[in-house]
Amino acid sequence: MKNNILIAYYSWSGNTRNIARRIERETGGRLFEIEPAQPYTTDYRAAVAQAKKEIEAVFRPELQSMPNITSYTIAFIGTPIWWHTMAPPVATFIERFDLNGKTVVPFHTHGGGGVGSFEEDIAKMCPDATVTKASAHTTAEDLKPRRRLLPG
Ligand SMILES: Cc1cc2nc3c(=O)[nH]c(=O)nc-3n(C[C@H](O)[C@H](O)[C@H](O)COP(=O)(O)O)c2cc1C
Repeated sequence: MKNNILIAYYSWSGNTRNIARRIERETGGRLFEIEPAQPYTTDYRAAVAQAKKEIEAVFRPELQSMPNITSYTIAFIGTPIWWHTMAPPVATFIERFDLNGKTVVPFHTHGGGGVGSFEEDIAKMCPDATVTKASAHTTAEDLKPRRRLLPG
């Protein structure tokens, strides 16, 4: 395992986890799942409504834990696109975790609506890191045949 590479991700329905695992296989980095202390409901419509409220309110949910890794120099950070940006638990993670001077590689999955403002948002939130252009992205459709998951 390469201790200089961290792969931190949140995933509600598994797509972003699949990408994170691919990155783990390809880089040998250390995988860390960002988990909100209070898991989101598994009901799609309710989750979409809750996410909208939280993103509008700039809410930062508590997390179950933070990774105990200090030696890393590269952090892949992955999120599903929620309302055109990162999911709130990922925002909490970015604000709490020391990314100063590190290289941040954002990655995401979306349901067909594209990356939205995620890349600009993450760059603004870690001004003292080198944020690369997202190097891994895909749509949910690339991963498994399923209906599109767009809000509304
Ligand atoms: C609360 C919520 C909001 C979403 N908002 C968007 C969106 O704004 N644009 C989009 O393309 N997909 C949106 N989606 C679809 C997800 O981005 C897509 O299904 C993604 O691959 C899910 O990743 P996950 O399986 O790791 O949770 C949303 C899904 C949920 C549950």
